[in-house]
Amino acid sequence: MRTKSKIVLITGVTRGLGRAMAEEFIRQGLVVLGCGRSPEKVSALSSSSGSPHDFAVVNVASDDEVRSWARRLLEELGPPDLLLNNAALINRNAPLWQVSAKEFSEIIDVNLKGVANVLRHFVPAMVERKSGVVVNFSSGWGRSTAAEVAPYCATKWAIEGLTQALAQELPAGMAAIPLNPGIINTEMLQSCFGSSASAYPTARQWAKVAVPFILNLGTAENGRSLSVPI
Ligand SMILES: NC(=O)c1ccc[n+]([C@@H]2O[C@H](COP(=O)([O-])OP(=O)(O)OC[C@H]3O[C@@H](n4cnc5c(N)ncnc54)[C@H](OP(=O)(O)O)[C@@H]3O)[C@@H](O)[C@H]2O)c1
Repeated sequence: MRTKSKIVLITGVTRGLGRAMAEEFIRQGLVVLGCGRSPEKVSALSSSSGSPHDFAVVNVASDDEVRSWARRLLEELGPPDLLLNNAALINRNAPLWQVSAKEFSEIIDVNLKGVANVLRHFVPAMVERKSGVVVNFSSGWGRSTAAEVAPYCATKWAIEGLTQALAQELPAGMAAIPLNPGIINTEMLQSCFGSSASAYPTARQWAKVAVPFILNLGTAENGRSLSVPI
């Protein structure tokens, strides 16, 4: 008899850490469900991975899109064992007073409200089953700050608070963990660090360490602010 594979749901799988995690989780035998906004990249990932993995064009900032996505996946596959809120944006480097209202809203809509949207539509099924681990991607800048990334810092400090409060609400058997992935050479890092991003590990190198670390998270870590040991 075939044992049922664990299901991991990852937001923001089209590049960076999300993409590298999707590939590594698949390599380790998990079923990966993921989303991103770029249709070309979602379709490339679908073709290279095949069934039972499932990748969809979903903007996490849209509660309606997340609701339909969750309804379909929960009907087809049931609740995920691991839910990784990874999708996020960073503002273009600038002092806070020079960030437009539009850009500020986009960062809040994706990094904070997007996470709440995903939790709203997936967590009830996990709570009903009383099992599953939620990992919300935080940052070093969710625990410290730097000039020119204030909107991003604000959202990641918020993720720490939101996740710790969520941890107090979940039933026994579940966990919610704010996770700082470390510093990795992705498009996001290149945006804020410029050419010095190349001194840091690639997303693929990072995923080799991060995926086993995430797979070991459980109820003992509920509410703990953790960092990937890279
Ligand atoms: N890289 C680092 O050093 C670092 C450090 C600390 C924390 N982090 C955190 O780690 C996570 C991943 O970062 P990264 O460096 O991999 O970033 P990245 O390279 O910029 O990738 C971000 C991913 O999120 C997706 N995304 C953005 N907005 C979305 C939306 N509205 N709906 C759905 N997907 C969306 C993007 O895909 P589309 O454009 O296709 O939507 C992309 O796949 C983030 O939470 C980030 O804050 C990263």
